[in-house]
Amino acid sequence: MDLRLERVENPKKRPDDSKLGFGQVFTDHMFNMDYAPESGWHNARIEPYGPIVMDPATMVLHYGQAIFEGLKAYRTSDGKIQLFRPERNVARFNRSAQIMCIPEVDEAFALSAIKRLVAIEKDWVPRAPETSLYIRPTIVAMDPYLGVRPSHTYRFFVILSPVGAYYPEGFNPLKIWVTDKYVRAVRGGVGEAKTPANYAASLFGAEVAKEAGYTQVLWLDAVERRYIEEVGTMNIFFVLNGELATPPLGGSILPGITRDSVLALARRWNVPVAERPVTIDEIMDAHKNGSLQEIFGSGTAAVISPVNHLAWRDEELTIGDGGVGPMAQKFYAAITDIQYGRAEDPSGWIVPVE
Ligand SMILES: Cc1ncc(COP(=O)(O)O)c(C=O)c1O
Repeated sequence: MDLRLERVENPKKRPDDSKLGFGQVFTDHMFNMDYAPESGWHNARIEPYGPIVMDPATMVLHYGQAIFEGLKAYRTSDGKIQLFRPERNVARFNRSAQIMCIPEVDEAFALSAIKRLVAIEKDWVPRAPETSLYIRPTIVAMDPYLGVRPSHTYRFFVILSPVGAYYPEGFNPLKIWVTDKYVRAVRGGVGEAKTPANYAASLFGAEVAKEAGYTQVLWLDAVERRYIEEVGTMNIFFVLNGELATPPLGGSILPGITRDSVLALARRWNVPVAERPVTIDEIMDAHKNGSLQEIFGSGTAAVISPVNHLAWRDEELTIGDGGVGPMAQKFYAAITDIQYGRAEDPSGWIVPVE
């Protein structure tokens, strides 16, 4: 498929690397492509970044039929720009598309469009340590129609945002609130899709947690409200008596690419690994008997987020010595070293942009 390019006339001024936050600044260009039943995906183009004009009846605004992805481009010390396992993001995008009744995209074409866009915007990939260019592919339902059904037309777009270091002054461990009152997703629902509904469903519980002084919510399963699923918008890991345990992907958990990378590294390092159900009661007991060593979250934004404090009912736990555990530290270093080209990439996770 052709990919048309229209360059911006007046490029924006790029922000200073030291002033970057997350998702506030966007680059000069974006990728766009349209879908119609008679022509399939068509009209692929890279053009100046700008608004998408929508009829107020556009279906995505009413019924939330949309999917998205999140990945990053990294600059190595010798100036190369590279992606980390991007084919996994594109595959997950199509899995989310199936769940949300959205027509799938050609994965090779989508990946080549992302690479082309990043290559055009390569000067926007920041240089300061642990900064990156966040990539947000999205598809939204475009029919102007107020009945509930899958849309017939769609827009696929990709935007880019330079982002700062997540931990500019070292890890900032999370204080988490476990709730059995609010749930994020239910098995048989859309929890394993990267779709806005899951994030909308998490807002209220997350606000309650923040008001009570916690950073994020630890989500339990929606049926029995015992099985641990995710933490905030991350997958979750426990180190219990030397074993690395994480909940299995049962339909209500997002299959994280960082999660998969942690599991792969642990297996390579011969760390005992279990993808198995973990209940909140098991964690409380393990804390009491001294076998709970670490808890951490995994995700593209922060890579690894250590948890040092957990509140459940009327109990407040400090995990380990309240600092950053050795496993969290080791996974963070290993993954970021590969992403920034500081270490070998024996599994072929790195995809160069040019
Ligand atoms: C709900 C949720 N869980 C887990 C993750 C982690 O996935 P990944 O490691 O692919 O970023 C994310 C996204 O980053 C997420 O939004």
